[in-house]
Amino acid sequence: MKGKQVLLTGGTGGLGLGVTPAVLAQGAEVTIPYRSVQEVERLKGIFSPDDFERIQFIPANLTDEGSVENIIKRMERVDVLIHLVGGFSMGKTHEYSFTDWKRDFDLNLNTTFLVCKHSLNKMLQSGYGRIVTVGSRGAVQPVGQLAAYCASKAGVVALTQAIADETKGTNITANVVLPSVIDTPANRAAMGAEDADKWVKPDSLAQVICFLASESAKDVRGAAVPVYGSV
Ligand SMILES: NC(=O)c1ccc[n+]([C@@H]2O[C@H](COP(=O)([O-])OP(=O)(O)OC[C@H]3O[C@@H](n4cnc5c(N)ncnc54)[C@H](OP(=O)(O)O)[C@@H]3O)[C@@H](O)[C@H]2O)c1
Repeated sequence: MKGKQVLLTGGTGGLGLGVTPAVLAQGAEVTIPYRSVQEVERLKGIFSPDDFERIQFIPANLTDEGSVENIIKRMERVDVLIHLVGGFSMGKTHEYSFTDWKRDFDLNLNTTFLVCKHSLNKMLQSGYGRIVTVGSRGAVQPVGQLAAYCASKAGVVALTQAIADETKGTNITANVVLPSVIDTPANRAAMGAEDADKWVKPDSLAQVICFLASESAKDVRGAAVPVYGSV
């Protein structure tokens, strides 16, 4: 990814703590949309000032199309889109509010649609692009109390594979990774660290993402790659 312009959403989050350094280590120029200043500060703590010169932080809410358009307008090209934004909340379907259901779809599926749509417009102009989205194991093996999350992540897989089909015959690819449990500070705080050695490490998942985002992966299209660790 040397010299590539990378839009890395969710780059300040738990998985971002592994993916952002990995993308920078490949020599890319990185744009990271963010909402929380505290998360930007947490990320700054793991970099040298030299690394930081290659990151542009832009405040944005990716559920808003105008906000997404603004970010992409500020980038000369989008060679690579790595879309990490997403999240879950739990509850049985008969008790789950429609408001929460729509929020989960906004966060997981609608953000993916918006960043893919506007990145693709730039990629089609330049004739090059790599899109990597993040689903979840629950997208292909749904579990109880996570219906909205599993259904919206299944939508992320379907959207990514539809884009892969639409971009056949170009040097633009789209693929999705399906993590199980990631070893993030939030998961350790919520579940304790007893099983953490079985979880996927952010820097390990980052290597899979970086391969799919690389020039070398030009023939990999529409893959939904399980990254389950030992869970
Ligand atoms: N953690 C896991 O065990 C696990 C397992 C399977 C799949 N995944 C998937 O992996 C991805 C990363 O997870 P994570 O654990 O790193 O989550 P995380 O720590 O909650 O990070 C999510 C990131 O998305 C950003 N974000 C959320 N809503 C946004 C919005 N509307 N506009 C702009 N940015 C927004 C957050 O920034 P702000 O805080 O500033 O809003 C944060 O940087 C997600 O798609 C998640 O579903 C995670």
